[in-house]
Amino acid sequence: MLKVEDVRLHYGAAVALRGVSCQASIGEATCILGRNGVGKTSLLRAITGMHAVTSGRILWEGEDITRLPAYERARRGIATVPQGRDIFPLLTVKENLETGLGLLPRHERKISDEIFDLFPVLAQMMHRRGGDLSGGQQQQLAIARALVIRPRLLVLDEPTEGIQPSIIKDIGSVIALLRNRGDMAILLVEQYFDFAYALAQSIVVMDRGHIAMAGGINEFEEDKIRSYISI
Ligand SMILES: Nc1ncnc2c1ncn2[C@@H]1O[C@H](COP(=O)(O)OP(=O)(O)OP(=O)(O)O)[C@@H](O)[C@H]1O
Ligand SMILES: [Mg+2]
Repeated sequence: MLKVEDVRLHYGAAVALRGVSCQASIGEATCILGRNGVGKTSLLRAITGMHAVTSGRILWEGEDITRLPAYERARRGIATVPQGRDIFPLLTVKENLETGLGLLPRHERKISDEIFDLFPVLAQMMHRRGGDLSGGQQQQLAIARALVIRPRLLVLDEPTEGIQPSIIKDIGSVIALLRNRGDMAILLVEQYFDFAYALAQSIVVMDRGHIAMAGGINEFEEDKIRSYISI
């Protein structure tokens, strides 16, 4: 289980998180919702170790990871699919997938066949360059690359952003399947409400650097949640 306790985060003098607390449990999808610029990505950066927090604590499986570097968190099973995908355009699909393998113990350094069961399109494109894939295929590659380390916490930052509807549906099915396996916590930032609502058991609604609402999806009126994300 992931616990974020009263986290503050700054970019220079500008404050992005003003004391954020939330949690994510194994076997559930927890969805972070909120308008542009409220701090969703900053919260994920704090959790994955991409940006140091000013104060507060982050606990993962009972351990305080607040000061651990990103690669140490990855070793502990925290994998991230960044906003904008960030795949390596000049590396092939296979090489992109292999970038995560170094984090695994030597005898486990193999891309499991399951990755290609989840994303059959990647199996057909193994030797194509990442940059030659469509946006949707790149997003699938970014998720597959995160799965290579067999994470127990999968963090996804707006996986539907700029993606065509048919691939959004495929990505939703994969997330639902991973959630239903019950051995992973999924933390999903999403601005597409219906996608989030269909997948999440828990929600965290952010507003300008703080948490506006958090809890089980059934604890809140749908319209109330929507009021925080409609412009
Ligand atoms: N590297 C940075 N340097 C300075 N300010 C930043 C940086 N990254 C984000 N910010 C600012 O911090 C605040 C929170 O940004 P963040 O990216 O976390 O929001 P977000 O909710 O993910 O937004 P979006 O929906 O647009 O992805 C914003 O005001 C943003 O301008
Ligand atoms: Mg963001």
